[in-house]
Amino acid sequence: MPKQCKISFGGDTHPPMQVDEGSNLSEILDIANSPILFGCRTGICGTCLINVDAGEEEGASPRNEEEQALIPILAPDHPHARLACQMRPQGDLTIRPLRLE
Ligand code: FES
Repeated sequence: MPKQCKISFGGDTHPPMQVDEGSNLSEILDIANSPILFGCRTGICGTCLINVDAGEEEGASPRNEEEQALIPILAPDHPHARLACQMRPQGDLTIRPLRLE
């Protein structure tokens, strides 16, 4: 049985969820109607830009090639920014939509 990871969304916007380690968040969070929105799901549009709470970075897979290319452009001042469609959970995480002005 895969390890379970608790995904929280900060505040009381949505109850925390238990997901399998390594699962595809774009599928699971869409079904759950979470506050994280998705567009392309391939790492090019930035719709799913999120921030992982400080201290919980180890709960996420390392940035893949798509994230390494896009995040420095979209959110250069946010060291914990991730693309939810590309990131895979590896442990407990608190994620929040990252809104850029
Ligand atoms: S949904 Fe487009 S980058 Fe994640």
